[in-house]
Amino acid sequence: MASGTRSQGAKEFAYCPYSKFRVGAALLAHDGTVFTGCNVENASYNLGLCAERTTIAKAVSEGYRRFKTIAIASDLEDQFISPCGGCRQFMREFGDQWSVYLSKPDGSYVEMTVGELLPVSFGPEDLKKKTMLTTQSGS
Ligand code: THU
Repeated sequence: MASGTRSQGAKEFAYCPYSKFRVGAALLAHDGTVFTGCNVENASYNLGLCAERTTIAKAVSEGYRRFKTIAIASDLEDQFISPCGGCRQFMREFGDQWSVYLSKPDGSYVEMTVGELLPVSFGPEDLKKKTMLTTQSGS
């Protein structure tokens, strides 16, 4: 799993002076392009970015929206790093049938789909469905 190694490498750039919890991610796009990213914290704590969101934003801002996999790496020795709820939703925006590799520093990993990590989700398609709302003009 090459993107596993890339996510470990991306972790080296983690900017996490507050949590000291390093996270890296490597995102494989449909055409084989790989984007990497890390968590980027801030003195205004709530503005910190997770590695997954940093990485997805890098890809989308370069024109990519179709993804095959995202690998996530942390320094947790005995646990596969699990993406936070916000990042699961961020991934889901781009489909629920692509893969997430939750890894450990030794290179072992668990593969799950976005849909498995975020079941019964809300996505862009839902915004297009029929609603009860009527406009003020009644039409
Ligand atoms: N973090 C990530 O970057 N990704 C995750 O999947 C879990 C948490 C970051 C956010 C924060 O910078 C630090 O880890 C501690 O929560």
